[in-house]
Amino acid sequence: GKYRVVSTKSMPGTRWINLLIQQDCRLEICTEKKTILSVEDIIALIGDKCDGVIGQLTEDWGEELFSALSKAGGKAFSNMAVGYNNVDVNAANKYGVAVGNTPGVLTETTAELAASLTLAAARRIVEADEFMRAGLYDGWLPHLFVGNLLKGQTVGVIGAGRIGSAYARMMVEGFKMNLIYFDLYQATRLEKFVTAYGAFLKSNGETPVTWKRAASMDEVLQEADIISLHPILDKTTYHLVNKERLAKMKKEAILINCSRGPVIDEVALVDHLRENPMFRVGLDVFEDEPYMKPGLAELKNAIVVPHIASASKWTREGMATLAALNVLGKIKGYPVWFDANRVEPFLNENAQPPA
Ligand code: GLV
Ligand code: GLV
Repeated sequence: GKYRVVSTKSMPGTRWINLLIQQDCRLEICTEKKTILSVEDIIALIGDKCDGVIGQLTEDWGEELFSALSKAGGKAFSNMAVGYNNVDVNAANKYGVAVGNTPGVLTETTAELAASLTLAAARRIVEADEFMRAGLYDGWLPHLFVGNLLKGQTVGVIGAGRIGSAYARMMVEGFKMNLIYFDLYQATRLEKFVTAYGAFLKSNGETPVTWKRAASMDEVLQEADIISLHPILDKTTYHLVNKERLAKMKKEAILINCSRGPVIDEVALVDHLRENPMFRVGLDVFEDEPYMKPGLAELKNAIVVPHIASASKWTREGMATLAALNVLGKIKGYPVWFDANRVEPFLNENAQPPA
């Protein structure tokens, strides 16, 4: 291979590997056993000559790594993730390294996990499973694990981008929930969908579903029974859900987070869960992964899973393929796909930002 490409992790499927090796690339996949690679580990992987790197969301892609990659002749980096809060885009720009991410293929998979956590929290599935396995079930009782009916309740979506909109549609259509959402942009297609579905229900003699675009995030917090967070993580969304905002939610609300951990002040969340036993939470992400804040693991009203929202076979193979295409494309002179493309105009003056 003419070009040396490094992948900091082994990734699912073989298509991404074949793509690279069939197009003049020598691919090196890091086999290091430890889960999270340090900056030093990655600098060693980059070495003296490296044309592009496929990296992971657990890695800190900042000044040091982009400078090392640039010195090694590298032109491209792709995160195997849609989120890019682990990437310092200004540093990448400074060193002339194009950055890519992998949106699209994980939209439905991630929304499906958010829906799974919603159902699991609403119907207390994890608690009930533990109860059963502990041998505590000694007969049917009218009070046993009574949860929430979703039908007719209001689902609140904070961040109605691809994933947030897909989740909203699942909850509205699947469970006949009303929608309230907050986003800086109007989710026109989502609104149209809910309007049309509402009309369909009405024509069927059923109660129609409704939608509302909230003027503020607090409006969603106050009105929704289920709240799911789907923003990107940046300075403006760090601790978006804090003590004050938790206090605005209904006492029996359910909060779901499949975005990034630091969007919630997790210490405040633990306090809130302790003080409000009817408040429930479903978390895929944590503030200091892989750790949880003290107390969270003991709380029955929390369901916690280890950042697996995009973990379906089809999606993970798709993410690996897109990441490889990003790096390969750049090496071959094409622009890479990046959601924040507006900040790297140097890339290709004729490249169009993603729609
Ligand atoms: C996963 O968290 C991703 O951003 O793709
Ligand atoms: C991320 O893919 C989003 O736009 O929700």
